[in-house]
Formats: sequence, structure tokens, C-alpha cells
Amino acid sequence: MKTRIPVLLLVFMAVLPAAEPASGKDALGSLRYEDFEKPKACKSCHTRIYQQWQQAMMSQAYTHHWDEIEYWDLAVPHAEKHPELKATVDGCNGCHAPLAYLAGDVPPPRPEENSRANESVSCDLCHSITAVDGQPVNFNWVSEPGRTKYGAKEGLESPHHITKFNDIYTVSEYCGSCHNEQNDFGIWVKSTQIEWEEGPYAEQGVPCFVCHMPKAPGRSAPMAEEGMVAQHVFLGAHNEAKLKSAIEVSIHPDEKVIPYDGTVTFQVELFNAKAGHKVPTGSVEDRIMWLDVRAVDANGKEYHLPVDKKGFEGEAYTIAADALAYRDMGIPLGREGFEGVQRDGVPAGNRIFRMPYFDEDGIMTIMQWNTHSLGVDYRIGPRETKLEHFTWEMPYDVAFGDVTVTARLNYQKLVKPVADFLEVPEDESEVILINEASTTIEVYD
Ligand code: HEC
Ligand code: HEC
Ligand code: HEC
Ligand code: HEC
Ligand code: HEC
Repeated sequence: MKTRIPVLLLVFMAVLPAAEPASGKDALGSLRYEDFEKPKACKSCHTRIYQQWQQAMMSQAYTHHWDEIEYWDLAVPHAEKHPELKATVDGCNGCHAPLAYLAGDVPPPRPEENSRANESVSCDLCHSITAVDGQPVNFNWVSEPGRTKYGAKEGLESPHHITKFNDIYTVSEYCGSCHNEQNDFGIWVKSTQIEWEEGPYAEQGVPCFVCHMPKAPGRSAPMAEEGMVAQHVFLGAHNEAKLKSAIEVSIHPDEKVIPYDGTVTFQVELFNAKAGHKVPTGSVEDRIMWLDVRAVDANGKEYHLPVDKKGFEGEAYTIAADALAYRDMGIPLGREGFEGVQRDGVPAGNRIFRMPYFDEDGIMTIMQWNTHSLGVDYRIGPRETKLEHFTWEMPYDVAFGDVTVTARLNYQKLVKPVADFLEVPEDESEVILINEASTTIEVYD
């Protein structure tokens, strides 16, 4: 008797997944590469869309330099040393190389081998999605590749494929299936769609598409009717124009005219005017955005102004300091006694808008799969305004006359000391000026 139950269960387990297409981790190895058409097969008709996608990060999700470095130099060796991480590290491909994941080809061949894993988030992957299985997270979409391509429009006809409307293409949950991620320790290491859901844009019916796939007049294929076509540009942090002015910056003093031995307090207002989620979002463990305020007196002498402390819990992580972090990189790199690298790499005293990710020892990490807890969330929410103050006691050597004070909000995709340490190409850690503002005070005798 005892042995019969497991046998029956096994039979059920073998039968059940076949009845309904799998999603998320259950979909590993459930399909073949050949089930998907190559993006080139769409190019002849959807030429513009193809070219847009080629320039977008979507087509490079597996091949982009920093993805390759993090996956192959940190994640894969980490899972080799700690096999309990293997399923999660294989899962990187569920979002970055979904065809390889579905084909059970994990880890996939390296990018230079030019396998179909390189198609990254491809046309046919996206247009084979028929549902999202519950709350969107961890690539829990359902993919049913074949003759039918699904989309947001009704009643279209194509000589190459069957076209079907599916309402999943009209909601942010679709994007959230890859843009929300919860790791093995239950930590939400990516929550762009959740941030959107909790913000004003969800309420006002402005999904991700409106800002990331804007519509423009034209036709999507030569035989199509004129209409409004979704542009597959997916601009994000890798596009300077998209980042620039996402946050508005303004600055003013409490007094315009200050005695040479006086004190002035500047207030900086930072308004998230353009993003439908927090800034930074997505790869929050990598990103760093900071406010740098400098005064220049009548003699041209420059003074750096540190931000006033507010006194909230965890604030130390939001003010640049000379501190070490990212020690856990030593595990996959096989460096015994590794002390880590500089935590911030920006001038001490500057306010940093971030949410720190911590390893099990409570030290900051950029390895999201190794994150055991999150620190204070000091990012700028959609349509939120953050106020920062800079109290400045006139230095003894300040020149009389006008002093110009400038606030600059900078952004870096990958915190610089980590980028340098891992030899990630420069463009990933270039400093991007999001916005700046200036004000003038007068110092008198
Ligand atoms: C021979 C030309 C041709 C090829 C090749 C082709 N398509 Fe299409 N496709 C069309 C036409 C025509 C339409 C209808 C456009 C319209 O009327 O606006 C269309 C529409 C679509 C739509 C919109 C569906 C909807 O209901 O919103 C999707 C998605 C799509 N194609 C995906 C693909 C993908 C993915 C490939 C490659 C695997 C591909 N197509 C290859 C001609 C083609
Ligand atoms: C109101 C417009 C708007 C909406 C709605 C919106 N975004 Fe964004 N998104 C932006 C802007 C502006 C940026 C650039 C600033 C930044 O990086 O946060 C951006 C950046 C991003 C980035 C890059 C972030 C980074 O730092 O790497 C991702 C990924 C992204 N959006 C995904 C989404 C997803 C997914 C949704 C829907 C759940 C969405 N966005 C909704 C405007 C929007
Ligand atoms: C990340 C997923 C994703 C990828 C990758 C993607 N698409 Fe789309 N596509 C969408 C969504 C979502 C829509 C509907 C957007 C809307 O209507 O707001 C869409 C719309 C379309 C349409 C209809 C356009 C219109 O408005 O008439 C066509 C055609 C299409 N895609 C073809 C392609 C082709 C070809 C590729 C590859 C070169 C591709 N898509 C890559 C998600 C994707
Ligand atoms: C199959 C998974 C998947 C789906 C579905 C998906 N994305 Fe992405 N997306 C990714 C991955 C992976 C990246 C990161 C590419 C990289 O940098 O490696 C990305 C990158 C982006 C970026 C660029 C961020 C940057 O740093 O420049 C934007 C914007 C974005 N996605 C928006 C969307 C929107 C809007 C949708 C819904 C229409 C969507 N995504 C659906 C997986 C997905
Ligand atoms: C649930 C989907 C998902 C999973 C699983 C996932 N990623 Fe990502 N990853 C994304 C998305 C979406 C982005 C883009 C976010 C943004 O632009 O801020 C991204 C961004 C990145 C980036 C930054 C790319 C850049 O150029 O800035 C790296 C590196 C990366 N992922 C590596 C990994 C590794 C390694 C794993 C596995 C341990 C992994 N990802 C698992 C969805 C995922």
C-alpha cells in the first residue's frame, strides 16, 4: 500500500503540466528553440519595429557587457559553490534569455557562441505570451508559440501569421512579469510594476506602454492600414534623453543677503515629474543617484556643501561616505578575506537616493540573488517631491559679493567602484547629469 501513493502522485504530476502550459520556473525545458521564430523572420514586414527593438536593451538582455559579466563572473560561480542557488541563477535566463530557459539550455552558451540565447527578449517570445499566472513576478508569463501572434489590436490580418487580440497586452502586469522579481529569501529585489501600481499613474490608467512604447502615426507593415503604431523603443536608464529631466530640480536660500559671519540654509526641491515608478527603479542594487551642491564665491573659490541630516533610520546609507561594501563578491571570485570596495564612489556628504540591498551579514551587496534584507527606501516616488536642506556657515575666507550655489542631480547605472573593480566598460558607470539648478546670494561685510 505504502508504495502505491507516490506512484499515483507521479502519474498525476506527469500528466497535469501537459494539460496547461507552464509558467515561471515550471516552464524550464518545456519548449524547444525551434518553437520560436527568429526576429529576422519579422523584419521583412515589421521593419521599423525590428530596428527599434535591435537598438533597445530588450534585444541585448543576454549579450550586453554588464549582464555577461555579472552572470558569468558572479552568479554562475556563486551557484557552483552554493548549489542551493542554482535554480535561482538558472532563473536569470527566464527574463534575460527566455528562449534558452524554455528550451532547458541553462546556463546557455556564452554570447560569443552566437546561439539563439542571444535573441534575448525576442519578438516571438513577447508575442507568444498568452497570460500572466497570478501576481506578476519572476517571469510567470505563459508562452504559447506558434502560428498565432498575440497583440493589443483586434481584427488585424497578416499573410505570415494568425493575429489575435489578447487583453494581457493592454495592462502593466504584462511587463511586471519580468519587471518584478522576488528572490529565494523572499526579498523583492525588483518591483517596478508594484511601484507603478501603488502610484498615481495606475489610478489614472497610464500603463507602462504609454511612456515606453509611445504611439506614432504610420503602419506597422507594408500591407497594414495607416493608424497609430506602438514604437518598440523601450527607452530607460541606457538612454540619456530618457533620464534627463526625469526629475526637476530647484534651489533657493532662506535669505538672499548674508553677513560674512552669517549662516544660510538652501532648500532643494526634487520633483519626479516624468517616471511612472520610483527613481531609481529596476536594478536598484546597481544604480546610484546623488545630489551635489557647490557654492562658488566672487573670487571663484568653490565650497562643497554637505546635506543636512534628517535623522531617519538607516540614513547613513543615503549620505555618501568613505565606507567599504560589496564584500560578498569575494565568494564567487574565490578571494579569501576580500574586504570589498568603496560603497559609493561619490563625494562624501552628498545625499544619495537609493535603497540599499544587504547580504546575510548586513553588508551592502549588488548581488540581488544574495540579498537577505533591504534597507531604507530613499528613492523618489512617482510625482513625489523630496526636500533637502544645506545649512552653510559662511567660511572665514569667503569673498564679499555674489556667491552662486548650484545643485546637480547625477545618476550612474552602476556604482563606480564596483564597475572599476569588475572592469565593466565605462559607459555603464558614466555620470549622467539628470538636472541642475542655481541660485545666488550676496555676502556683505
Ligand atoms: C509577411 C509580412 C509579415 C511578417 C513576416 C510578420 N508579420 Fe506580423 N503582421 C503583419 C501584418 C500585415 C499585420 C497587421 C498589421 C495591421 O493591420 O496593422 C501584422 C500584425 C502583427 C501583430 C499585431 C497583432 C495585434 O493583434 O495587435 C503582431 C504582434 C505581429 N504582427 C507579430 C509578428 C511577429 C512576432 C513576426 C515574426 C515572427 C511577424 N509578425 C511577422 C505582417 C507580417
Ligand atoms: C509616466 C511615464 C512612465 C510610466 C507610466 C512608466 N515609466 Fe518607466 N520610466 C519612465 C522614465 C521617465 C524613466 C527614466 C528615469 C528612470 O530611469 O527612472 C523610466 C525608466 C524605466 C526603467 C529603467 C530604470 C532604471 O533605472 O534602470 C525601466 C526598467 C522602466 N522604466 C520600466 C517601466 C515599467 C515596467 C513600467 C510599468 C509598470 C513603467 N516603466 C512605467 C517613465 C515611465
Ligand atoms: C517586451 C515585449 C515585446 C517585444 C520584445 C516586442 N513586442 Fe511587439 N508589442 C508588444 C506590446 C506590449 C505591444 C502592444 C503595445 C500597445 O499597443 O500599446 C506590441 C505591439 C506590436 C505590434 C502592433 C503595433 C501596432 O501598434 O500596430 C507589432 C506589429 C509588433 N508588436 C511586432 C513586434 C516585432 C516584429 C518585434 C520584434 C522586432 C516585437 N514586436 C517585439 C510587446 C513586445
Ligand atoms: C520576458 C521578460 C520581459 C518582459 C515581458 C518585459 N521586459 Fe523590459 N526588460 C527585460 C530585461 C531582461 C531587461 C534588461 C535588459 C538589460 O539591460 O539587460 C529589460 C529592459 C527594459 C527597459 C530598459 C531599461 C534600461 O535600463 O534602459 C525598459 C524601459 C523596459 N524593459 C520596459 C518594459 C516594458 C514597458 C514592458 C512591457 C511592454 C517590458 N519591459 C516587458 C525583460 C522583460
Ligand atoms: C524576473 C525577471 C528577472 C530575473 C529573474 C533576473 N533579471 Fe536581471 N534584469 C531584469 C530586468 C527587467 C532588468 C532591467 C531593470 C532596469 O533597467 O533597471 C534587469 C537588469 C539586470 C542587469 C543590469 C543591466 C544593466 O545594463 O544595467 C543585470 C546585470 C542583470 N539584470 C543580471 C541578472 C542576473 C545575474 C540574474 C540572476 C541572478 C538576473 N538578472 C535575474 C529582469 C530579471
